[in-house]
Amino acid sequence: MIEPPYTPSPSRYDNGMCYRRAGRSGILLPALSLGLWQNFGSRQSFSKVCEMAHYAFDHGIVHFDLANNYGPEYGTAEENFGRLMERSFRPYRDELFIATKAGYDMWPGPYGNWGSRKYLMASLDQSLRRMKLDYVDIFYSHRYDPETPLEETLQTLVDIVRSGKALYVGLSRYPLEAARFAFDYLAARDVRCLLFQDRLNLFDRNPVESGVFDLSVAAGSGFIVFSPLAQGLLTGRYLDGIPAGSRMAEGRTLHSEVLDEAMLTRLRGLDDLARQRGQTLAEMALAWLLRDERITSVIVGASSTAQIEDNLRALKCLHFSDEELDRIERLIRG
Ligand SMILES: NC(=O)c1ccc[n+]([C@@H]2O[C@H](COP(=O)([O-])OP(=O)(O)OC[C@H]3O[C@@H](n4cnc5c(N)ncnc54)[C@H](OP(=O)(O)O)[C@@H]3O)[C@@H](O)[C@H]2O)c1
Repeated sequence: MIEPPYTPSPSRYDNGMCYRRAGRSGILLPALSLGLWQNFGSRQSFSKVCEMAHYAFDHGIVHFDLANNYGPEYGTAEENFGRLMERSFRPYRDELFIATKAGYDMWPGPYGNWGSRKYLMASLDQSLRRMKLDYVDIFYSHRYDPETPLEETLQTLVDIVRSGKALYVGLSRYPLEAARFAFDYLAARDVRCLLFQDRLNLFDRNPVESGVFDLSVAAGSGFIVFSPLAQGLLTGRYLDGIPAGSRMAEGRTLHSEVLDEAMLTRLRGLDDLARQRGQTLAEMALAWLLRDERITSVIVGASSTAQIEDNLRALKCLHFSDEELDRIERLIRG
């Protein structure tokens, strides 16, 4: 069957999406971005990939977050994104902000992992080929490599921008002192870090507690959150057991041991509070992050358009009373 050509919604910028500035830069990003870590690779049907990506774009989600090894299998989320570019997104390339990364294991041998110049340069070339792109909007060092001299990794990021293969660069999951060095190194070469990416959610405050959040804001970098829903834990998904097909049922990156009685009590309490606010638990968890204007965007994952729809509704109410915030802290402490 010949698929009809994709025409994006004419109201994609009037659907309630808000756009936030990434630190001290010219870039505005949607408050909600879509991550393709899971559910967009070769184990997913391509029609479902198209459905979710189109739904996102139709609702003003112009930022798609990828990495070389997203799938599963490794590389296949980028391959599917390349098919999307060819089939539907190419005419809208200048409306899209596309990210990729390298830093985790990608291919065998000594040059397919971590932070060497050899790995980062080769990986970005492969990503561009898979995604059928001439350039990405942002290329990240996906993690700090304690063995490679940091100057080598960072100079590679600078050279990548100068080569035109990425417009901006970012850092993901760097510890505080490495992040401090990196912000300074990049700024001294006029290639500032556009986005610092880290995990932050109601259960995991590490970037705030470690000081890396404040540091990145002070350095003029945007701050973009991954796993804002704790991989689905902070939603209604597991309140009545572990559904077939869920991330926890697959057990690769979210394990059923976390769902003990204490966790269920927390989740039920948070769910009650969300209902009183007129939100789902997922909406409240996202709103709790986005109430802080210094957070540029939250990258959500999804396995259906209904989940994206639910998550978009979070934008309708980002306000919390002091009493609600106190109650959240009490519920989380248990
Ligand atoms: N820089 C890094 O090192 C790094 C690490 C991890 C992730 N990331 C990026 O961040 C993105 C998001 O991470 P994540 O996927 O862990 O984020 P997440 O948003 O915390 O979790 C996404 C999962 O939660 C469930 N979900 C989402 N919305 C829901 C809703 N409204 N109701 C019920 N369930 C819902 C779905 O689970 P089911 O699949 O079970 O339906 C979905 O796959 C990734 O795709 C990636 O781009 C970056």
